[in-house]
Amino acid sequence: MPTDRQLKMGFMLHGVGTGWGDWRHPDAQPNASTNFSYYKQQATIAEKAKFDFLFVADSVFITAKSSPHYLNRFEPLTILSALAGATSHIGLVATVTVSYSEPFNIARQFASLDHISGGRAGWNVVTSWLEGSAANFSKSSHLAHDTRYRLAAEYLDVVQGLWDSWEDDALVHDKASGVFLDPAKLHELNHHGEFFQVKGPLNIARSRQGQPVIFQAGASEDGKNFAASRADAIFAGQETFEEAQAYYHDVKQRASGFGRNPDQLLVLPGIRPVIGSTDEEAERKFQEFTDLTSIENALSLLGRPFNDYDFSQHDLDAAFPDIAEHGANSNQSQSHRILALARRDNLTLREVARRFATPRTDFIGAPEKVADAFETWFINRAADGFVFNVSLPKELEVFADNVVPILQKRGLYRSEYEAETFRGNLGIPVPPNRYAAPLTRVAAE
Ligand SMILES: Cc1cc2nc3c(=O)[nH]c(=O)nc-3n(C[C@H](O)[C@H](O)[C@H](O)COP(=O)(O)O)c2cc1C
Repeated sequence: MPTDRQLKMGFMLHGVGTGWGDWRHPDAQPNASTNFSYYKQQATIAEKAKFDFLFVADSVFITAKSSPHYLNRFEPLTILSALAGATSHIGLVATVTVSYSEPFNIARQFASLDHISGGRAGWNVVTSWLEGSAANFSKSSHLAHDTRYRLAAEYLDVVQGLWDSWEDDALVHDKASGVFLDPAKLHELNHHGEFFQVKGPLNIARSRQGQPVIFQAGASEDGKNFAASRADAIFAGQETFEEAQAYYHDVKQRASGFGRNPDQLLVLPGIRPVIGSTDEEAERKFQEFTDLTSIENALSLLGRPFNDYDFSQHDLDAAFPDIAEHGANSNQSQSHRILALARRDNLTLREVARRFATPRTDFIGAPEKVADAFETWFINRAADGFVFNVSLPKELEVFADNVVPILQKRGLYRSEYEAETFRGNLGIPVPPNRYAAPLTRVAAE
């Protein structure tokens, strides 16, 4: 079915993969998470397949039980700065936590990436859900869930305020007269808030796309309101079509409630397709991945949204334990979802761990079947696109060679980039500089 909307696609650069199994696969490169050549090769394939962006997830706390990619990986802004030089059109989205950083530094680092890449930077604003993070930053405790979101909102105010320090025509660069800048067009922020006191201005100007694109992934009430009021795109975590569709409508409605155009908030669920030449081969591949994850490792993964809770102390074949309090100040939405599912389907701990560590999704099958799933989710407004996550070296190529042409033929996905900036390709506007005269602002809008 032809449509004016086009799928927006991100590729998650995730080294050896999200779980515990993939690094053991015969095709896997166990050092992939710190292997620049590997990332460069994946970035090149994703750009050739006209993906909108590369996405780098992050966290700032590990234990020996953290999964392989989390244990040993690149800092997001560093790897994306390197990849900016190896790519030309694809967006570059880095995850950085607001709970353990300073807005001035972060504003400066993202503005730098935005310039280095010619207007392709994006920031996934996260608050961090693991309490252990505090001890890595000279802090005695982790902030409460609602405080973290309050801090995130103020943090973003400061960063976006700093990004507007320079009006677009402030740097005059007139060699004849010796005028470098027009000081009237350089602005201090003078922010005085609950968490931050920041004077400004920032020591770097705006890029071709005005400001980096804002991503968010929270799904609690606070998380959804933050995303709906402030984000350009949401990296969503729902697994089933029904859940994804309900979430999509919920956040779009909230965006309208905040006076925004809901089409300018993109909802992009994370998916992990498993593609085979036939449905049976894809099924075999899925089973192969599943078999590589031991139950002990599945328990460690399950512990993460519950603040790294140790599930090994419970009977695997008894009913799922009631540990809601461990999720409340951690990953609230995911821990709620797991508890609700366990209660609804009366699942044992073993069953929950298996489902969580190796979820079965709609995106397993031959290329036509996977393309059908993309189309169903997209046309029926469960998604505006997807963030694609595969970890084995050849899987991205399999998708690019076999599924992308089907999506293009169906008119759902681009064959060429529309623009050179990330905002241009996503179809979202350049934010006007808050200090610019109204006429300049209208032009930017
Ligand atoms: C698909 C997806 C990707 C995420 N990536 C990260 C990440 O890289 N780093 C991080 O600290 N949190 C990440 N999160 C967690 C969110 O930022 C947020 O903490 C989490 O969804 C819980 O939010 P809530 O308490 O509002 O439900 C991700 C969440 C989702 C759904």
